[in-house]
Amino acid sequence: MTTSFLIAQISDLHIKAGGRLSYRRVDTLAALQRTIDRLNSLQPRPDVVVITGDLVDFGRADEYATLKAALAALDMPYYLIPGNHDDRQALRQAFPELLHLHRDPEFVQWCIDDYPVRLIGLDSTVPGQSHGELCHRRLSWLDERLAEQPDKPTLVMLHHPPFVSGIGHMDVQRLLNSDALAAVIRKHTQVERVLCGHLHRSIQQRFGGSIVCCCPGTAHQVALDLNPDAAACFVMEPPGYLLHCWTPEQAMISHLGMIEAFDGPYPFYDENGLID
Ligand SMILES: [Fe+2]
Repeated sequence: MTTSFLIAQISDLHIKAGGRLSYRRVDTLAALQRTIDRLNSLQPRPDVVVITGDLVDFGRADEYATLKAALAALDMPYYLIPGNHDDRQALRQAFPELLHLHRDPEFVQWCIDDYPVRLIGLDSTVPGQSHGELCHRRLSWLDERLAEQPDKPTLVMLHHPPFVSGIGHMDVQRLLNSDALAAVIRKHTQVERVLCGHLHRSIQQRFGGSIVCCCPGTAHQVALDLNPDAAACFVMEPPGYLLHCWTPEQAMISHLGMIEAFDGPYPFYDENGLID
């Protein structure tokens, strides 16, 4: 078995059904199809894809059916957690074959032990609310899972960022009890990363002795505006993905990749050396 392991993270797909545009402006389904094309074409190819919530836009069955049809084009296994735009029951009904979605009777949270890196998905959603919270049962479950394998590198993922980003209209919707999560993470030094979405931007923070990485959206991004009274707006900045590369020598390295194709690549060198 190879010991290196590549995890692609995408987030906040916000899929709509029937060709409808998110906010009447964003073709999120086309954006997901471009994302899948990009991930399938990566060399080396990611071993797995994790999708950190807001899978669909309004938690509807027809949106999940659209999502499922699109994800069928992905060449590698994928693992899902819900965001505040999702509906646990509709998500589960759409994906009866994804066993990880059905392991807990109440929350869509799971632990995958099949790979060199352990993957733990947390359900930070509060039905009917935009913010996130982890109740005592979810936190205890995480603590117990992490105690099982203290020496195995582990990724923990949840939708809501456990930090204050400075983007005010999003910060009121963050994970409200982030201190409680940090206290659990701090006990378990094998946690290489805490992965999240929700902010539709690439953001990092030191968290509970680990590193939290927030992933861009596959379609629209939240405007980078750190004024406390900033309007709730999105921008069509380039969408991206995170590529978390684990090797025994380096542990975890996290890259930000772009989904769109850009001009290049061009060589630095020719037959005379570095091009002048
Ligand atoms: Fe989102």
